[in-house]
Amino acid sequence: MEIVKKGNIIIEDLEFRKYLSEEKIKHRIIRLAQKIDADFTGKKPLFITVLNGSFIFCSDLVRALNMDVEIEFLKVKSYEGLESSGEIKESINTLPNIEGRDLIIVEDIVDKGNTINHLHQALSKLNPASITVVSLLYKPAAYLFDINIDYVGFEIPNDFVVGYGLDYNGYGRSYRDLYVLDNENMH
Ligand code: IMP
Ligand code: MG
Repeated sequence: MEIVKKGNIIIEDLEFRKYLSEEKIKHRIIRLAQKIDADFTGKKPLFITVLNGSFIFCSDLVRALNMDVEIEFLKVKSYEGLESSGEIKESINTLPNIEGRDLIIVEDIVDKGNTINHLHQALSKLNPASITVVSLLYKPAAYLFDINIDYVGFEIPNDFVVGYGLDYNGYGRSYRDLYVLDNENMH
C-alpha cells in the first residue's frame, strides 16, 4: 500500500496537499461580494459563469451578494491534464441577448489567460455595455494577456491546484478545500 501524507489527497497518479481551507475561501468570497455589491449598485449585471470549474465558486459568490442577479453558463474547455492547451472550445450561441448588458464573467482560475482572452473577445462582439472579470484564483506568473482581472480572490504561484470546483482530468472538483500538487510526493 502506498504511503500518503496526512491530509493529502491522491487523484489518479498525483498527490496533492491542502492549500486554502474552505473557511479562508468563504471569507474571501464574502469580501469580493461586498465589493461587487458596492460597485454595481443600481445596475443589473448578468453573471456569465465559465463551466465546468466555476460552478462552485459562482454558487457561493452569488449567494454572498446582496442583489438579485441573472446567471448564464458557458461551457469552455482548454485544459488537458496539467496543461492549458491554448485551443478554446465554447458555446456562446447558447446565451440570451447580451447587447447593452453589464456582464460579469465568473472564472475559477485564470492561468495563461487563453480562456478569458478568448471569451472577452467573443463577448465583446455582441456589444455588451461592459465586461468585468471576477476570478477566484489568478496565476500572475503564468498570465500572457492584457485584459484586467477586475476581482481576484487569491493570487497564487504557478502551481497546479484542485478542489473547490477545479479538477485534474475530471476528478477532485468536490473537495471543499483547495489542494496544490505536492511535488515532494510524486508517485
Ligand atoms: P487559461 O486559459 O490558461 O487561463 O486556463 C484557464 C482554465 O484552465 C481554467 O478556467 C481552468 O478550468 C483550467 N485551469 C487552469 N489552471 C488550473 C489549475 O491549476 N487546476 C485546475 N484547472 C486549471
Ligand atoms: Mg475554468
